[in-house]
Amino acid sequence: MNMYDILYKKRESQPLSQAEIAYFIQGFTRGEIPDYQASAFLMAAFINGLSPDETVELTRQMLLSGDMLDLSGIGGFTLDKHSTGGVGDKTSLVLAPLLAAAGIVVPKLSGRGLGHTGGTIDKLESIPGFQTELAMEEFLDQLRQIGVGILSASGDLAPADKALYALRDVTATVDHPSLIASSIMSKKLAVGADGILLDVKFGEGAFMKTAEDAIELSKILVDIGEKNSKQTRALISSMETPLGKAVGNSLEVREAALTLQGKGPADLQELCVQLAIHGLLMSGKCRDETEAQCRLLDLIDSGAAYEKFLDFIRFQGGDIDSLPVEKEVGVYRARSSGYVERIHSLPVAKAALICGAGRQTKADCIDPTAGILLHVQEGERVEEGDILASIFSKRENRIQEVLDYLEVAFILGERKERSPLIKGVVCREEDSIVFHPSK
Ligand code: URA
Repeated sequence: MNMYDILYKKRESQPLSQAEIAYFIQGFTRGEIPDYQASAFLMAAFINGLSPDETVELTRQMLLSGDMLDLSGIGGFTLDKHSTGGVGDKTSLVLAPLLAAAGIVVPKLSGRGLGHTGGTIDKLESIPGFQTELAMEEFLDQLRQIGVGILSASGDLAPADKALYALRDVTATVDHPSLIASSIMSKKLAVGADGILLDVKFGEGAFMKTAEDAIELSKILVDIGEKNSKQTRALISSMETPLGKAVGNSLEVREAALTLQGKGPADLQELCVQLAIHGLLMSGKCRDETEAQCRLLDLIDSGAAYEKFLDFIRFQGGDIDSLPVEKEVGVYRARSSGYVERIHSLPVAKAALICGAGRQTKADCIDPTAGILLHVQEGERVEEGDILASIFSKRENRIQEVLDYLEVAFILGERKERSPLIKGVVCREEDSIVFHPSK
């Protein structure tokens, strides 16, 4: 076997065997297959596609290239959650303690943000003292004791994916569904949870621009998970508009804390509860959606979900009472009266980035208190002069740029309907992967 023949076959759209994919990934991981051949493989795969079998094997080989967690001693149903990323997406901060309060163990390895999407680790690191790097034994012990933990993903999980992703980034081969799915799932499978719950976003603030593309990606993700004996479901949710009202690290932690007490924005609560319903159904702890929803709302109303959040923060060394206070340096006001027809997520994300909430390059430092707080959401009535957003930043010389982005983000008009947040769910039924639209 040699790499030239494998590239030739892929170029001619001939199916690759498991052994050929293993040869490529194992050789690439050992440094024996050079970047130029790996790049040629990626481009051929991008143009000619990968079959479901090829995608599953590529994922498996990337998974085998590194370490895997051993959750066998944890006990109970373990569930990992992954979002394809978006603007104001703090669902993990809400969902992980909510599920843990319901008796599901949530081991989560998360990443930092780059570009316009925020990362869960950056959000958690805005809490003074919060440790995102723990020894594995300590992490497992925390899971046994409180049922939830979130760590920074290390370089030892699926290293082949990390190296291939770096090549995809510079060879225009990132945005292919099979390559995205194998990349995501190699890392999710390395965590080794019993179930994998995915929040696949679509819209201008997301990787997938349309719901159809998000459904196609979800079907591949669920297929990979199920073929690796993991219960896997994907909720398809909109990222046309920011999720919740807060965009920025400490602002989002505050909003997550409020949501766990039932005082957060309705869209964020709806998404977290819907995701958690699927988590409960996957675990077998509830028989149907109604029972799961009642259980979850009860955990929020009783304070149990928020207590679990506080336990989780304390266990990882964080002091939520010392969360830094954001400094408001400006506001954006409505230029006319009407309904908020649209709040475009991309310009809001760019405004938050300029404030200092995110990184343009991996080396950039972030300001944990920077960001944008929306005062309204789509469908609400506003009067001329009302404050639509607050700006938090230490870069006072860049306020005008932030205001310019907010100017294009807000569309006011006469339409008051909100576009639906959740499109539906992709899951396995018998031997097929199906999409169920939301009712
Ligand atoms: N996230 C990943 O982990 N991999 C991709 O390829 C895209 C998004």
